[in-house]
Amino acid sequence: MEKIIVKKSAPLSGSISISGSKNASLPILAATLLCTGKCTIKNVPPLSDVKLMCSLLESLGAKISFEGKNIIVCVPKLKSHIAPYEQVSKMRASFLVMGPLLARYGRTRISLPGGCPIGQRPVDLHLKGFAAMGAKINLGHGYVEAKTDKLHSAKIYLDFPSVGATENLMMAATLCDGQTIIENAATEPEIVDLANFLNNCGAKISGAGLGTICIDGVNELSGCEYNVISDRIEAGTFMVAAAATHGCIKLENIPPSHLKPVIAKLREMGAVIEEGENHISIDADAKLKCVDIKTLPYPGFPTDMQAQMGALMSTVQGTGIITETIFENRFLYVSELQRMGANIKIDGRCAIIDEVRHISGARVNATDLRCGAALIIAGLAAKGDTEIGSIWHIERGYCDIVEKLQRLGANIEKSECDL
Ligand code: UD1
Repeated sequence: MEKIIVKKSAPLSGSISISGSKNASLPILAATLLCTGKCTIKNVPPLSDVKLMCSLLESLGAKISFEGKNIIVCVPKLKSHIAPYEQVSKMRASFLVMGPLLARYGRTRISLPGGCPIGQRPVDLHLKGFAAMGAKINLGHGYVEAKTDKLHSAKIYLDFPSVGATENLMMAATLCDGQTIIENAATEPEIVDLANFLNNCGAKISGAGLGTICIDGVNELSGCEYNVISDRIEAGTFMVAAAATHGCIKLENIPPSHLKPVIAKLREMGAVIEEGENHISIDADAKLKCVDIKTLPYPGFPTDMQAQMGALMSTVQGTGIITETIFENRFLYVSELQRMGANIKIDGRCAIIDEVRHISGARVNATDLRCGAALIIAGLAAKGDTEIGSIWHIERGYCDIVEKLQRLGANIEKSECDL
């Protein structure tokens, strides 16, 4: 088992290139189950979650090969329609194979994902949508079984703009007869990327990114070559890491339009940010101050950047309130930051963060992916050594984070855990 050791670091400087988006790659890989032809997916980050999705696709019948940074997927024939507990419980995004399996093969048996550290995360919106499209759904023994002769089009209103439900239903609708409309759909850039991939394969989707998505069903999807968008959360995390060290860095290969709320909040804190066409520069030389943040569906402030901002705010002047509205349990990182001396109080869905003289390094544990990122950021600004355990959480979502931070001058390394 490995740990990450972070020491107080000089201001980060230099430039790095942002990797492909995990949250765009996973649904696109699931969507290859819809395609009869060869799909070449480019710019996929080599992360453990991507490997998990590939092994699930292989167990369903996909032939997968890796050519440099490209993943090639062909699904000549379905071998199984079952996504077992062992796979779905390791990664919730496995549930995204449900829509493609139902649409192309008319049946699926898939484990219910269950709870996860950040909250309950039900799948009721996915299931209501599939039922509206004519699937017969049975729940039992921790599994969902769904069957249909052929899905039909439907008008679906999502009670909440769920990212996963929007993706699952949009994929399923591509092969339905007639026009499906998804209202109050999620508008994240990853939704637009999935729609673009599907359209390149022959789907007829319009409105992705605008809240109402129209999908005109087609008989068949072919394959295509597709370049996945860059990871806006990785970019945001590096911006916050630079701010925590009063650094000045340039992030290449990331459109600033995907990070508007993060850029706005960092500017409000006192950072100077320059937006290029496909790059962002941040200079956080000045004294920064706390702000108030509320997480919201896109284009609001992303819940996936909440913990990192909580870590940064623990190291700057003033008082700030973070309100989490997407997941009910996304303050697990707070008790780890408190062990480092942060002054944070939790009141329901709010974290109230107050100024301290300094935070100090400690042994802490990454309870989830973004908690791990937050602890790295805190460690860069803390006095003394911070030792972070359970770093497999971090490696699920950040490609070479230690090496990239080292390149920017951070005092960080990986080492074996003591037994
Ligand atoms: C995706 C992202 C995750 C991000 C989240 C919110 C991937 C692989 N993961 O997760 O990193 O934090 O979006 O931006 O892309 N909900 C229901 N019923 C449902 C579905 C969702 O009540 O059927 C609720 C959830 O419990 C949660 C909220 O809706 O409170 C948002 O969930 P959702 O947008 O579906 O997130 P994911 O797709 O799971």
